[in-house]
Amino acid sequence: MSGGAGRVERAAVGHDESIAAQRRWWDGEAADYRAEHGTFLGDSGFVWGPEGWTEAELSLLSPAGGMPPAPVLEIGAGAAQCSRSLRAQGVEVVASDLSGGMLRQGQLIDAIAPDHVPLVQCDGARLPFAEASFGTVFTAYGVVPFVADSAGVMREAARVLRPGGRFVFSTTHPIRWAFPDVPGVSGLSAHQSYWDTRPYVERDARGQVTYVEHHRTLGERVREIVAAGLDLVDLIEPQWPERNDQEWGGWSPTRGRVLPGTAIFVCRKPLA
Ligand SMILES: C[S@@+](CC[C@H](N)C(=O)[O-])C[C@H]1O[C@@H](n2cnc3c(N)ncnc32)[C@H](O)[C@@H]1O
Repeated sequence: MSGGAGRVERAAVGHDESIAAQRRWWDGEAADYRAEHGTFLGDSGFVWGPEGWTEAELSLLSPAGGMPPAPVLEIGAGAAQCSRSLRAQGVEVVASDLSGGMLRQGQLIDAIAPDHVPLVQCDGARLPFAEASFGTVFTAYGVVPFVADSAGVMREAARVLRPGGRFVFSTTHPIRWAFPDVPGVSGLSAHQSYWDTRPYVERDARGQVTYVEHHRTLGERVREIVAAGLDLVDLIEPQWPERNDQEWGGWSPTRGRVLPGTAIFVCRKPLA
């Protein structure tokens, strides 16, 4: 959560209002976000979340542990670090994001990196790609926590995937919504209902939404996946590794030793 609000509340926000706020927020924060997290992510790194587990360690995109079936689409790619990591291994990949500012950060990396990736600006819940055009779709903390219509994200991933292809996404673990979003020990005392799925909203003095995050319970996530026609292959709740002593907002070693911070859903489009 952004932490820089005028007014904070838990209240319903629709898809279009949410998208407009996200685009403004990520455009405005893009350079600072990269300055703060760029080293942790790596210009060509593939990190699934604040715990620091990489795709090379978890092998979630490919059942056999080799390269993921191509072409690969990343949604909510930010500066496209994950896509660049795949590209460096010879994988055909397209990186997409809602925010032109975040994609611009990707272009700045591309100006000095050997492995460029094609960039597309779009909403991950409304993809401008044909049916069955990708072998793999994924996102590491992009799109899913930020959209009102997360069921639409599942449907779109299913639509653009080929039969047998995987959609893998990491997002905030739903249990975190019961706890204060702070990294220290006070973040270990549950203070609100896990089942309250109203989004977290920040508004400016005029009442305009400046930032929003959306919550689903685990059961709701599973139901959205299944309703989109995808199979849920695995749900990873990665433990905090001893090697990582860095905090990322409310994600920290202190909390990570006790509570899951990230959920990674591994889904598959059934064979026709
Ligand atoms: C936390 S970043 C994750 C990206 C990258 N993995 C990283 O760690 O920097 C979230 C990204 O999701 C993007 N995003 C938010 N809502 C989106 C949407 N509806 N469609 C596509 N991208 C979206 C933001 O612009 C941002 O780049």
